[in-house]
Amino acid sequence: MAANDYRAYLRNHIDMEEAPGRAAHTGSTHRALIFGTLAVMGLLQVASSVAILLHLTGYLREVDLASAQQSPNEEMHTETLIADPLKSFKERKEKCRLKKDTRMPSVHLPIKTPTHFSAKNRNELTMITWDDDQWLNVKMRYHEGRIHVVEAGYYYVYAKTCFRYAEEHDSSKEDVSNVQLFQYIYHEKHTQSVITPILLTKSGGTLQWNIAKYNMYCVEQGRGIQLSNGDGIYVNVSNAWLLDPAADGTYFGTFKISN
Ligand SMILES: *[C@@H]1O[C@H](CO)[C@@H](O)[C@H](O)[C@H]1NC(C)=O
Repeated sequence: MAANDYRAYLRNHIDMEEAPGRAAHTGSTHRALIFGTLAVMGLLQVASSVAILLHLTGYLREVDLASAQQSPNEEMHTETLIADPLKSFKERKEKCRLKKDTRMPSVHLPIKTPTHFSAKNRNELTMITWDDDQWLNVKMRYHEGRIHVVEAGYYYVYAKTCFRYAEEHDSSKEDVSNVQLFQYIYHEKHTQSVITPILLTKSGGTLQWNIAKYNMYCVEQGRGIQLSNGDGIYVNVSNAWLLDPAADGTYFGTFKISN
């Protein structure tokens, strides 16, 4: 009985001794499992992160290398991509312009103001400069007094110059008892090695302006002429100091009639 009790005690004791141990053992096993799983998961996480990182950096490096190697081609490609539509757009625009702009070349220029012509060089010829800023100009060029032809053909060339003198406006009381008012239109051929102007047309008159207080005289001329590419035309006058600065008084122009 006692032995049984003892055995029972022992068993109980062992049970009791073992029980916490087993409990502790199973607890630690669970904890170890959890820790292990966590550790493995963590490791996997780290590994995958590193793998992703490596992959990404490697990929990025590859992309860098690839883009560095391909960049000239790519640039060329993009350039051609950009240039092509632009080019075709320009071509189309040009075609449209050539197709649509059927206007004949023409230009009409008023005198450039203010004028600074001296009264001293009276009968000396002076080239008139024109205002090319705001006036009609189709397929023609203007440079320092000269109208230049861009499209060869048969042109009508015209010029009007008004001269006027008002005694009350002249503080120095210039002598206008005998004034020569002439207008000349010249043609310069682009093909000439030494450009010698050809007189196209002249007109004018000699006037006595000492009688009236206000005097005005206008010269208007025009004629047709065959002009080549690059040819120039210009207007010279005497007594340019008397020129009327009004746009409707003094002007120069030309327009194409046929080829
Ligand atoms: C026209 O006038 C300019 C001065 O403005 C002069 O140099 C040129 O020789 C003149 N042209 C002619 C043909 O006289």
